[in-house]
Amino acid sequence: MALLGVNIDHIATLREARKGIEPEPVYAASIAEQNGADQITIHLREDRRHIQDRDLKLLRETIQTKLNLEMASTNEMVKIASEIKPDTVTLVPEKREELTTEGGLNLSEDLREVISSLKKAGIEVSVFIEPDTEMIQTAKELGVDAVEIHTGRYANLKKESEILAEVEKINKAAILIKKLGMRVVAGHGLNYHNTQKLVDLNIIEEFNIGHSIISRAVFSGLAEAVLTMKLIVE
Ligand code: PXP
Repeated sequence: MALLGVNIDHIATLREARKGIEPEPVYAASIAEQNGADQITIHLREDRRHIQDRDLKLLRETIQTKLNLEMASTNEMVKIASEIKPDTVTLVPEKREELTTEGGLNLSEDLREVISSLKKAGIEVSVFIEPDTEMIQTAKELGVDAVEIHTGRYANLKKESEILAEVEKINKAAILIKKLGMRVVAGHGLNYHNTQKLVDLNIIEEFNIGHSIISRAVFSGLAEAVLTMKLIVE
């Protein structure tokens, strides 16, 4: 059975729209955990556009499952992660102007030191990469523990033949990751329509999903929220 990591960045995005105190990511994490999330995933971006340093600290103290911190491989982030010690760090590429993480990380020797210092701090290291054989082999050589396959391309495809080809590519990547002794993770752009096909491969051990869950939560909660305010107004 695969594990579900719930990405709660968008709760913080909503809070930052007003720079206020609600909605509170700690509360979101707690609800996610009470309803089956196996992990809470957050991305501390260099520009702090959603998750803030205080969120990371509070979540580290309050999360009862696992904390997966997505971050760029910068000195600042390595220092923060080594102090806070999330259970897992997922290294992701980061561009200031992007709306969300676009494309996988381009792995190179430059990352060896970052990976080894995170591992020395007792943190599991995962890398977010495209389903690419060469990249997976490099991940193994660099000593990472888990590989998160970027499913963004899969999620954006419309033609059934292209979707099936991409699923096959993801399956092959997952088989190689597992054969090399790393944990198989997948994420990005997964929703209530496209996740099942990847679950059915029966090889992906963990899914990290955010946008579609938070989007659905808005509508599953909207009626109750309006009714409650209507009672006050009346
Ligand atoms: N995994 C990684 C590495 C990500 O960067 C993201 C987006 O922050 C996700 C999973 C979740 O993607 P989505 O919000 O599209 O479900």
